[in-house]
Amino acid sequence: MGEVDPAFVQDPQHRPNLSIIQAEGIPIIDLSPITNHTLSDSSSIEGLVKEIGSACKEWGFFQVTNHGVPLSLRQRIEEASRLFFAQSLEEKRKYRRDEISPTGYYDTEHTKNVRDWKEVFDFQARDPTFIPLTSDEHDDRLNHWNNPSPQYPPHFRDIIEEYIQEMEKLCFKLLELIALSLGLEAKRFEEFFIKDQTSNIRLNHYPPCPYPHLALGVGRHKDGGALTILAQDEVGGLEVKRKADQQWVRVKPTPDTYIINVGDVIQVWSNDAYESVEHRAMVNSEKERFSIPFFFNPAHYTEVKPLEELTNEKNPPKYRPYKWGKFLVRRKGGNFKKQNVENLQIYHFKIA
Ligand code: OGA
Ligand code: NI
Repeated sequence: MGEVDPAFVQDPQHRPNLSIIQAEGIPIIDLSPITNHTLSDSSSIEGLVKEIGSACKEWGFFQVTNHGVPLSLRQRIEEASRLFFAQSLEEKRKYRRDEISPTGYYDTEHTKNVRDWKEVFDFQARDPTFIPLTSDEHDDRLNHWNNPSPQYPPHFRDIIEEYIQEMEKLCFKLLELIALSLGLEAKRFEEFFIKDQTSNIRLNHYPPCPYPHLALGVGRHKDGGALTILAQDEVGGLEVKRKADQQWVRVKPTPDTYIINVGDVIQVWSNDAYESVEHRAMVNSEKERFSIPFFFNPAHYTEVKPLEELTNEKNPPKYRPYKWGKFLVRRKGGNFKKQNVENLQIYHFKIA
């Protein structure tokens, strides 16, 4: 690639700074009080709930250790992802995402109308996933998204499905801790996910990029769902906008930890007590990088709005209710092609 393809070039104010600020202080939280049942007592859980609460408030991001996800399973999905992306473009494009199901292989995603330097493979946690056909709020027709079944690498689907089960388990635990930290009942959020969740997993591959000062692997964005669990490899490149000073800081890779962030849905449920924080991924001129986010999303018919328990006269709801499925369909549409308008954001539902 000689000439710089302008589709990938970020506006000057959004270009990455190659002199990296390593993030100091993104909390690392030890989940052993909940994963190691014999040890757990109420005081250690209380401490954990406090830690999670402060991390959500101060960072919107945290890392977890002793999370209960078997390392061997993570290694298997990482290896499978490597093998899948190492195939020819022609082979990968056989499993290309289409207009009906936005699952499978895709290498032309845009974030905020600039092309990302990456290729992805998307897979839904539920097959089929029920979802509105259009984002029009008066249109009640439903659509369903299905997953592709690549032949290679062997057992690709089985490995992904097994990994998704572990991600869901971890998400349900984290949601309980988050609910407790907001003063809610532990199971307060469960109903939105137990049936018909719209969660998905994404395998990201960021090839080496000859102009890492101009392009990004994923442009700055907030995750629209409830929670994200990210596995990043040892190369690193995830940057988070630090709430304290609005600086972009790099999240240093730590083996066998997961990076968790709260998404827009939790921001709305908590009426802004926990904010969904902007993040992006840098690319690297020498090394390719892999990452695997799991996006934990509610059922399509979930009406997202500030919880009654967390609002009152002094702290009135800051958002109008919106339907999760309609939001998701609008967003997916926005990713397909370069559009000259900004895609849907939760502040569009903000009550002035
Ligand atoms: C994402 C994302 C970051 C990364 O896919 O939403 O933020 O490090 N990825 O790959
Ligand atoms: Ni993200």
